[in-house]
Amino acid sequence: MENLGNYKLVFLGDQAVGKTSIITCFMYGNFDTNYQATIGVDFLSKTMRYEDRTFRLQLWDTAGQERFQSIVPSYIRDSSVAVIVYDVADKQTFLNTSKWIQEVRAERGSHVIVVLVGNKTDLIHKRQVSIEEGDNKASEFGALFMETSAKAGFNIKPLFCKITSALQGNEAVSGTKQEDLVDVNLKASTKSSRAEHDQVE
Ligand code: GTP
Repeated sequence: MENLGNYKLVFLGDQAVGKTSIITCFMYGNFDTNYQATIGVDFLSKTMRYEDRTFRLQLWDTAGQERFQSIVPSYIRDSSVAVIVYDVADKQTFLNTSKWIQEVRAERGSHVIVVLVGNKTDLIHKRQVSIEEGDNKASEFGALFMETSAKAGFNIKPLFCKITSALQGNEAVSGTKQEDLVDVNLKASTKSSRAEHDQVE
């Protein structure tokens, strides 16, 4: 089977916007309403298969808490993708994404795919950031854009399909429909609290 490579994705954004939840939903298909702040940085990886090719996504989940911010830049440095998450029900988290995008661009220039993600769309009546505002900001910074709800499992797989397509940047995977993108490890293990957790192999 042809290996299309390893890609490092770093998840950035304010505290409690749902970075861990998006990753957990993608990895294990579940959602936890209890908030457990990420301490430092967590690592998970997942091998994906598209037809007869595989590629590995390395997911680096950073802590949004202020006290961990000094260690984050080192994770941005060699990433292929920066996923910058905000909470659509919390305007300040949206405003703060500019700082993250600028930091990523300053560090990686155009050698990085930036994805702006508005999470918690299930909080319909609490929404403070419109889809247009999100879309406009993404366009302004040359970023991809998607709204998600980790709670509802909305747009999570499409988000990773979009990222994968952008990474491949070619016909092979850019026409990928989410049904065609297969998780190699169908026996997803339960969530581990270990900081180092590699699900595949
Ligand atoms: P830090 O580790 O502090 O950076 O937080 P985080 O960005 O990883 O957020 P986390 O995934 O831990 O989620 C924070 C809280 O928001 C938890 O209580 C989640 O259950 C909740 N949450 C996450 N995603 C959603 C969502 O899509 N909708 C709703 N309603 N709540 C969500």
